Amino acid sequence: MAVVNFQPAKVAILGAGKGGTALLGLFSQIPGIEIIGISDKDRAAPGLKLARRLMITVADRVTDLIADRGVNLIVDVTGDPAMVRIIAKHKRPGVEVLGGDAAKLLWNLIQYQSTLQGQLFQTEKLAAIGSFAAGIAHDINNPLYLIMAFAEQIREEHDAATIREHANEIIGAVRQINAISKDLTQYARRSTATDAVAVDLNLKLDEALKIARYAAVLQDLSVVKQYADEPVVKANPEEMLHVFVNLITNGVQAMEGTGTLTLVTRCEDTKVTVAISDTGCGIPTDSLDRIFDPLFTTKSPEKGTGLGLHNVKVMVQKHSGTISVESEVAKGTTFHLLFPRAEPPASRTA
Ligand SMILES: Nc1ncnc2c1ncn2[C@@H]1O[C@H](COP(=O)(O)OP(=O)(O)OP(=O)(O)O)[C@@H](O)[C@H]1O
Ligand SMILES: [Mg+2]
Repeated sequence: MAVVNFQPAKVAILGAGKGGTALLGLFSQIPGIEIIGISDKDRAAPGLKLARRLMITVADRVTDLIADRGVNLIVDVTGDPAMVRIIAKHKRPGVEVLGGDAAKLLWNLIQYQSTLQGQLFQTEKLAAIGSFAAGIAHDINNPLYLIMAFAEQIREEHDAATIREHANEIIGAVRQINAISKDLTQYARRSTATDAVAVDLNLKLDEALKIARYAAVLQDLSVVKQYADEPVVKANPEEMLHVFVNLITNGVQAMEGTGTLTLVTRCEDTKVTVAISDTGCGIPTDSLDRIFDPLFTTKSPEKGTGLGLHNVKVMVQKHSGTISVESEVAKGTTFHLLFPRAEPPASRTA
């Protein structure tokens, strides 16, 4: 029987512009690819910043990286015609090079993959909002009944002061419906921001809670918040909200409307951690290593697509974070997240 040994790819990335940054982001998520280092003659190139955040070596001289003993694949995305000669001169025998049109093709594939990923996030988000329909209808019906009841009373009422009181109740109920619609339409919108900004995770958890509570119709949930001061990370605010809505939705669904949801944020020197716990049904041990797989679900089609946690993991990794889970059947589940900490900005955070 033939045994095929795959050598782990030990990659050097030359060029830290747009292409190099995208490659770095993708390669750093793929098991079996080790990034030995990245280099660019422009010290301010965006890929170098990302590399430092990911604790990946930034080589001062491109020739040092090309000649590195650990490298077995050089990916050249500098677009510099002179680089071909420099690589040929300094690379060790047997080291493969991906450059020129092949590197461009790889770059195009990565762009395409990132567009598909964006569409997948959006599709899953809309499917989740669809599954909230009963919860949303329930929350809108209450103020609607109120409006109806006060409008009927106004029809028969002659006292101007009482009419004014009823009108104020109606205005309050309309505002309630307006707030629901604003939260949901904002969340449903396709993510447009691409740049990472300073995001306060406490604010995002609170926003997510407002949306995820529609996941169950009748609820008797206690929510416990243990928030640190200013747990700020550099992130895409819409994606961070999406992550938390997914995790809280899962918790709310697991508790079937009754239980305690605990949201904890903590700041350490260079890290921010988040823990989202529920006292729901828990996850059996044999399912634990499958929950992040795309399309793995134990829910009925109208409640779940099985894409939630898969997308969460991709978004967390995109932000140089990690996610892990601990769970006990019939007791509950905790998802732990960890992100690199950002300096709280002088201005307001997203
Ligand atoms: N907090 C939790 N408690 C219990 N089970 C959970 C929890 N979170 C996830 N799971 C399990 O993991 C599975 C996958 O979760 P995931 O969020 O990916 O998909 P889903 O919730 O089924 O559907 P959706 O795509 O709508 O999120 C769930 O079907 C459920 O079995
Ligand atoms: Mg889910």
